Amino acid sequence: MAEEGPEPATPEAAATQTATSGVTNVDAVELRADGGAVVIIDQTLLPNRLEYLELADAKDMYDAIFQLKVRGAPAIGVCAGYCYYVLARQEAARAAGYEEFASAMERQRAYLNSSRPTAVNLSWALSRMHGVTLAHQGEDPAGIVGLLRDEAVAIHREDLAMSEEISRLGASLLKDGDGVLTHCNAGPLACLGYGTGQGPLYYAHDHGKRVRVFADETRPLLQGARLTSYELSRAGIDVTLICDNMASIVMKNGWVQACMVGCDRVAMNGDAANKIGTSGVAILAAHYGIPFYVLGPTSTIDRDCPTGDDIKIEQRDPDEIKTMFYAKPKALPEVKCYNPAFDVTDHSLITAIVTEKGICRPPYTQSLAALFE
Ligand code: MRU
Repeated sequence: MAEEGPEPATPEAAATQTATSGVTNVDAVELRADGGAVVIIDQTLLPNRLEYLELADAKDMYDAIFQLKVRGAPAIGVCAGYCYYVLARQEAARAAGYEEFASAMERQRAYLNSSRPTAVNLSWALSRMHGVTLAHQGEDPAGIVGLLRDEAVAIHREDLAMSEEISRLGASLLKDGDGVLTHCNAGPLACLGYGTGQGPLYYAHDHGKRVRVFADETRPLLQGARLTSYELSRAGIDVTLICDNMASIVMKNGWVQACMVGCDRVAMNGDAANKIGTSGVAILAAHYGIPFYVLGPTSTIDRDCPTGDDIKIEQRDPDEIKTMFYAKPKALPEVKCYNPAFDVTDHSLITAIVTEKGICRPPYTQSLAALFE
């Protein structure tokens, strides 16, 4: 007989299974009321400190994205939309006319876009914003700035709506009492609203379906430990934090009925890039016969990307493996490190891809293409 699995961490955790979380009501990204800055939660300080940062110039915006102060594909997209708008206000005030404004914004777009390569939402949001600038050729930059604000707010609103719908659809794949294993962070901090990969957990919880969650800590930057377990436990959801190398035993014990993860870029054949380690979870899930679901908005599906081989994987600083988050270095300085931030899960390992437009099943070349018809 399958073992029962760990108890909720505290009696309070069990008692609050019907309460909603403060965390899910806090936007990870907002526009300051006067429009002069983007306000983000500095995710690198969590779970120890909840602090907000104001981003008013391009370098701070670039650094915030590159350093993962704001992170998670949809949140990066919303942030990028607001960043473009804040910079457009400044450039419009400086520019002599449309041509000067448009070329300054092309430079800003390219600069922000170079901060991280894998999550397609960054380039998607920036292209969408820049499309507004280009569509109003020859017009007064001050007028275009007003339209850019509307566009950035629309990206934010659409993001919240898609997150709700993905969460609803994803929750329909879960039964009361299911155990769900998740990797990295794809909850409210990464997406706004409920989230994507973890959205169904909040949705299920808020609609009276009990779930118990196993959160991979997610080496090397520990998004699962620092962010996912923080969000879920604040929401009163039964969460157990595990090291990445414990996923197999948890599945073998029979505690996991589904795996749910977010995504940074989905190729048109269904190959899905997500946080490094995701493909290993999918391979384990296939071994144990557990459904593996990828959840993300259609803005994360890259129509210019035929397969996972075409996805650029970000390589990050070796010190993230050797020293970050530790008082003392964990390896000799001369030790070589390989530190890809993402990997690609082969489409053959994915049971379904859940988008705000519906649940896609294999063959993904057909079901993903149908989303855009
Ligand atoms: O490097 P990160 O923390 O930005 O990576 C985030 C992830 O891999 C998430 O799972 C993904 O962006 C989906 S967030 C809804």
